[in-house]
Amino acid sequence: MTGAATAGGVPARAANEFAKLHGQSPTGVWSAPGRVNLIGEHTDYNDGFVLPFALPFRIAVAARARTDGRFAVTTVGDDGRPQRAEPVPVEALEPAGVTGWAAYPSGVSWVLRHEGLTSGADLLIAGDVPAGAGLSSSHALQCATALALLGLAGIELDRPGAPSRSEVAAWVQRSENDFVGVPTGLLDQTASLCCVESCVLFLDVRSGEMEQVPFDAAAAGLDVLVIDTRARHSHGDSGYRERRAGCERAADLLGVPALRDIGSSGLDDALSRLPEELRPLVRHVVTENDRVLRAVELLRAGRLADIGDLLTSSHVSLRDDYRVSCLELDVAVDAARAAGALGARMTGGGFGGSAIALVPDEERDTIGDKVLAAFAERSLPAPGLFTAVPSPGAGRDI
Ligand code: GLA
Repeated sequence: MTGAATAGGVPARAANEFAKLHGQSPTGVWSAPGRVNLIGEHTDYNDGFVLPFALPFRIAVAARARTDGRFAVTTVGDDGRPQRAEPVPVEALEPAGVTGWAAYPSGVSWVLRHEGLTSGADLLIAGDVPAGAGLSSSHALQCATALALLGLAGIELDRPGAPSRSEVAAWVQRSENDFVGVPTGLLDQTASLCCVESCVLFLDVRSGEMEQVPFDAAAAGLDVLVIDTRARHSHGDSGYRERRAGCERAADLLGVPALRDIGSSGLDDALSRLPEELRPLVRHVVTENDRVLRAVELLRAGRLADIGDLLTSSHVSLRDDYRVSCLELDVAVDAARAAGALGARMTGGGFGGSAIALVPDEERDTIGDKVLAAFAERSLPAPGLFTAVPSPGAGRDI
């Protein structure tokens, strides 16, 4: 039923495919993971708190510099067939000029060119982060691309004089916001770049402060079960924009820089000063920030099993107040809980994608089977199930 996810040989595959395609080895291979967010959803663009961990699934980028100033990118899917985007002069890359999957690596090249850090390159992409599952495959791709292009410029992260991982996350965000045109926050890039093995990353998005909080579910007899609902909702992008715009309007009306500035003690007063349609958004953001802080306290105290209720309250708030859940996510969460999960919630932006459930490890298979049965009963396509442990962040492999 469930399998533990493993990194597999993604970097080696990227290197081999590169050599096949270009007739020579790449200069190097860099990779970056997808993520789940344990809790703290739709808080990042409100200057709030998030608590993600990196998945063992990664996107790898094999790269070599080109002398003609062109940016050439090829992706190799599971079927082994390469898809090649038309090589473009780096100087000619402009926002909205590239569409589809190639926009993500191209945007990173565009940002780094403006920083004076890249020129032409051949990139070959391979990976095993499930695409469209809300597990940040596009951010893994962008982060791995950033590391590869920096690597070709002789810049390896964590060495003296190198940009910090947070600076790289900010570049990736600029690429996504200004080149690809999606107004996302800093959660996913920071998770992919800054997470470490065996820990969840407590990030204060406003200050940029980070704490690696140990997260050893196995030692507590638990597993994090990831349920990829396979629902891919097309209104996700516009729904995300609307929520974000609503939060910004509420902050404006309340006279604060961001909703982060409303603490739980100020919530009732804030709600009374807002038009009805903005109240649920604000209630979600304020209570969610509070739930992240409480989850961190429990984890610091080694009380991992006690975060279950916070996960479930987060889901209820995202479903009823923020309204970014969907039928498949609710079925996953409800079925997992009814079957014995300590808590469960959608993870990521919502409107489809994945849910997570905190489950006793000896009940993992039964809970997974019951989730599958709940989907089958409603004639929904079977979800993908795997368990995940906090895994290493982005880096150079070869
Ligand atoms: C998406 C975005 C993130 C964040 C989440 C919701 O994953 O990329 O920046 O806003 O949604 O928490």
